[in-house]
Amino acid sequence: MPATTSLNVIILAAGQGTRMKSALPKVLHPLGGRPLLGHVIQAAKQLKPAKLIVVYGHGGRQVMETINDPDIHWAEQKEQKGTGHAVDQAMGHVDDESTVLVLYGDVPLIETDTLSQLVYEAGGENLALLTVHLDDPTGYGRIARNEHGKVKYIVEQKDADSHELTIKESNTGILAVNGGKLRNWLGQLENNNAQGEYYLTDIIAMAVRDGVDVRTSHPETEAEVEGINSRSQLAKMERVYQRQQAEALMASGVTIIDPARFEVRGEVEVGRDITIDVNVILEGKVRIGDNVTIGANCVITNSEIAAGVEIRPMCVIENAKVGSGCIIGPYSRLRPGADLAGDNHIGNFVEIKNSNIGLGSKVNHLTYIGDTDMGSGVNIGAGTITANYDGANKHRTTIEDNASTGSNSVLIAPVKVGKGATLGAGTILRKDAPEGELTLITTKQKTIPGWKRPKKTK
Ligand code: UD1
Ligand code: CA
Repeated sequence: MPATTSLNVIILAAGQGTRMKSALPKVLHPLGGRPLLGHVIQAAKQLKPAKLIVVYGHGGRQVMETINDPDIHWAEQKEQKGTGHAVDQAMGHVDDESTVLVLYGDVPLIETDTLSQLVYEAGGENLALLTVHLDDPTGYGRIARNEHGKVKYIVEQKDADSHELTIKESNTGILAVNGGKLRNWLGQLENNNAQGEYYLTDIIAMAVRDGVDVRTSHPETEAEVEGINSRSQLAKMERVYQRQQAEALMASGVTIIDPARFEVRGEVEVGRDITIDVNVILEGKVRIGDNVTIGANCVITNSEIAAGVEIRPMCVIENAKVGSGCIIGPYSRLRPGADLAGDNHIGNFVEIKNSNIGLGSKVNHLTYIGDTDMGSGVNIGAGTITANYDGANKHRTTIEDNASTGSNSVLIAPVKVGKGATLGAGTILRKDAPEGELTLITTKQKTIPGWKRPKKTK
């Protein structure tokens, strides 16, 4: 593309998606945790277009609200009268001097490199088509070429004669051409064809007629240009996408024990020498430092895992920060606002929410820590509970450096355990425990001499 030509991208996303059998508009169905349309928008944005226009129809409000992107110009297509009609709805936003790139909102894996190449082929003067040779081109428009191999026209499956149906070269639907020329051709479209639609593909014959050079380029893989119309196709593309994510992470130094049992539903930033066991799901924004190991069956969402952390199997970590050297799990749950300073041990059936855990503190068994500020070097006994909720309000608990709680302690917030304080087993702490002292609740232990166990009646 000459430097003087700006790029206008039009994404067609008005299709009904009836085969999804869904209340959710097709282009909002998630692939790798992000709407299909979101993937296409991301690919388009990498081209730094002057304008990005999305043609919406079905479920329009929901589409706009979900995508919620101020950079997008939205154009409504009230009735789905074909791809040519759809593009026409966007033309109010298009500059005649620009190169227009047409994309589909339900073709999510298109690569930016493929699109750059196509826009380059358009070059301001030409019409560039992205085509693909398919073993089974059923349903696709076919690329008809003359004896010199130049493209003459595109014919839709439903309008094709028996000879045209033998053509394997298929139209992906993605094309690039000058905005002013496109506007002129769209004005000449007719719908006298098998489907009674305004076909965007009819502009190809018009371009040839007007002496515009029609060029073609091709994607690296078929998956790049595969559209999604059903949940079955969605599942198939999810596997392709997940494989790509796994390959990218492996290429950057992550060991993934089984790429077929690993899911990324968001954006992951990784260090080196990370090992990830099977059935791990990473969601949202996840950052993982060097030398981290993640055991089987962990779900990690919007969290930061610092270097050297070991996450054992069966952990659920959400909106949490795990400092370097921590050992988490098995069976730990870190909830939003869990902030672990580092070198912490969090064990089985421990839940931590909205709490700061100081360096080296240990919470190893059967415990709930909520709304707590914990210092360093603390040891929390098995079955300790911070009772942070009085039925109406939440209160904070403070546990200072080197304190230790006995098993089965209940800390009724707001309350403080002082520096180096020790709580005896079974303490129900209603008042602050002073620094350095042992605090416990004593009830006298009693033995009933000669007591007999009841016997079963016959
Ligand atoms: C279109 C092409 C065909 C190509 C195929 C690739 C035309 C006439 N045909 O087929 O050559 O091989 O794509 O998949 O262009 N859309 C709208 N509004 C409409 C119609 C479609 O927004 O009125 C959108 C759809 O949401 C979809 C895209 O355009 O994202 C393509 O529509 P679809 O019906 O899937 O493609 P075909 O018309 O069958
Ligand atoms: Ca159609």
